Amino acid sequence: MQRFKIAIIIAVFIAVLLFILPSPLLARTLRVVLDRDYPPFTYIDKSGNLVGISVDFWKLWEEKTGIDVKLIPVEWAKAHQMMIERSADVIDTIFKTPAREDYLDFTNPIFRMTSSIYYRSNIKNISSPKDLTPYVVGVKEKDALIDIALAQNSNISFRLYKNYSDIVEASKRGEIDVFIMDDLPANYHLVRYDLLYEFKKTEPFTVNYIYLATQKGNKEVLDILNSGLSKFSQEELNNLLKRYTVTVEGERYPPWLLKLISYAFLGIAIVILVLFLFNRILAKKVRIATRELIASREELIAMNEELRANNEELEELYKQLEESTGLIWKTLETVSEISMLDIDERDFLEDILNLALQTIPKAKAGSIFIIDENDEDIRLIKTIGHSKDLEGLVFKKEQFIASNEPIIVKDIMDRNREILPPEFYKRLFDHSLIISETIVAPLVWQDKTFGYITFDIVNDTDTHFNETDLNIARWFSILVASFYAVRNYARREGVILNNLVITLTKALEYYDKYTRGHSDRVARYALKIAERLNLDLETTKKIYWAGYLHDIGKIFVPQDILNKPGRFTEEEYNLVKIHPVKSEELVLEIEDLAEIARIIRHHHERWDGKGYPDGLSDDDIPLGSRILEIADAFEAMTSKRPYKRALTLKEAIEELKRCSGTQFDPKLVEIMVSVIEEELKTY
Ligand SMILES: [Fe+2]
Ligand SMILES: [Fe+2]
Repeated sequence: MQRFKIAIIIAVFIAVLLFILPSPLLARTLRVVLDRDYPPFTYIDKSGNLVGISVDFWKLWEEKTGIDVKLIPVEWAKAHQMMIERSADVIDTIFKTPAREDYLDFTNPIFRMTSSIYYRSNIKNISSPKDLTPYVVGVKEKDALIDIALAQNSNISFRLYKNYSDIVEASKRGEIDVFIMDDLPANYHLVRYDLLYEFKKTEPFTVNYIYLATQKGNKEVLDILNSGLSKFSQEELNNLLKRYTVTVEGERYPPWLLKLISYAFLGIAIVILVLFLFNRILAKKVRIATRELIASREELIAMNEELRANNEELEELYKQLEESTGLIWKTLETVSEISMLDIDERDFLEDILNLALQTIPKAKAGSIFIIDENDEDIRLIKTIGHSKDLEGLVFKKEQFIASNEPIIVKDIMDRNREILPPEFYKRLFDHSLIISETIVAPLVWQDKTFGYITFDIVNDTDTHFNETDLNIARWFSILVASFYAVRNYARREGVILNNLVITLTKALEYYDKYTRGHSDRVARYALKIAERLNLDLETTKKIYWAGYLHDIGKIFVPQDILNKPGRFTEEEYNLVKIHPVKSEELVLEIEDLAEIARIIRHHHERWDGKGYPDGLSDDDIPLGSRILEIADAFEAMTSKRPYKRALTLKEAIEELKRCSGTQFDPKLVEIMVSVIEEELKTY
């Protein structure tokens, strides 16, 4: 009975013991300790969750075996500690080493793992643990790699870190230049800490397997582990591994190259962008320019048309100019013969009439009449076009149709029929062409009419004389008048030149209506300045006559331009600018007037050298020309033109002073001003 009691007590005790003591066989939860920093097997992700191959492995494990697992992530050294203290049943992802086999039993191998030496890029000649002697090598506490490396080189000095992250951080700080590490976690950390290109790695110096392990002699757990593992196919294990493996291995570009490449890409991108923008801008510009070009092309075409029209006009003007130049030379030749005292009167008048008819082409006939000494009879002494039989015909003064000014008379023969005796009229009619319109211009000298010049349009009722024709007639009347006047004067007093000059000038003034009286006044102003300067008499005279003749060359400028009631265009102005040289040429035709000609040539030069025709300046301009310049300008300022009013004398003085030293000789301005002021006093 006593034995039975003891047996029951023992049985109860054993039952209680069995019930109370935790037994791996009976345990519902397997406690697995693992390195919390062993990516990609176990690591804490950014959200603070434990993730990795091992985590997935154990989940799958629970599904496959129905055995619950509690994962305990700790530092690696702590994991070992816990195994020794038996506060965990399994240690995960562990290499098998002889030292560990003393206190742990290992499962079958699960994964293969290589380990290498990692060293800063600037270090050379590390290829195995044998080369590590000169360095302090970073390593994880309790890492199997310590023993493995020491087995190859016992002189390595290590610096221990709690985990892989600490090692890599220390490397980044420059605390260590070399460390040894399993390749998968090393890769992961180098990427994470952006050190992939600052550290090189050797070929693996050891290849190991990852196991699970339990305490030495814990056969039950070991059996559970191995039977659980046998439920995993190799493919499943590979899939787990693939899911986390960071495959940065392979081509390792140096950072500078990457930087260079990225800068190059950036550069190329910028260049492309700039080119693109440039292209856009250019395209826009081209579009605008094209539009403008098309517009300006059209404008150009229009301008071209205009230019062509202008050109034609200009050509016409030049033709006119040439023609009139020819005529003028002929006239001049003829006129210059005036000075020859023995010139034949009839020849001279014939020449003059011929010239006049060429100048007024619409006139096909012309005649010259002279009033006899008795002042009663008017004798036809020269005719062209009509029969020469008319020469010598004498009209009574009251029978002659005329006026004090040139006039245009229509159907003069009808009127003649009314006032002339029938016989006389018949003789006239028989020897005349049929006349439809006539200009009758008086020949006047010193306010006395001493004859007439006439021009006739023959048998053409559609053609009529105009104002210009009247002016030309007036001009020729002056030439003829001057011939007689000069001849008579010359015969009497031997003074030829002065009258010729005056005559020529007057001729010009009829040609250019704006300069009427201009030459005369310019000559007088010039004379006053010359007198103030106390120049000798000869020089003073020359300046005076130069004043008279200075613009005579304007005869070569087409009349339409000279008499234009507005400002000149550039082309027109260029034509006007030839007149000083033409004046000079004309005056040079007359003997002994070379000096006057020179004064005339330069009357549009300016003190500052900006004048024409030679751009002379300062004292290079002849004194006479400088005097003329100022006299000419003053006369122009104080005269009225269609496009400007006349300046008052005070305004003219201001203008002279304003242009002193630029247009005018400053000394001469002073003199001119004093001359004007004196004149002001006399009024
Ligand atoms: Fe002039
Ligand atoms: Fe002038």
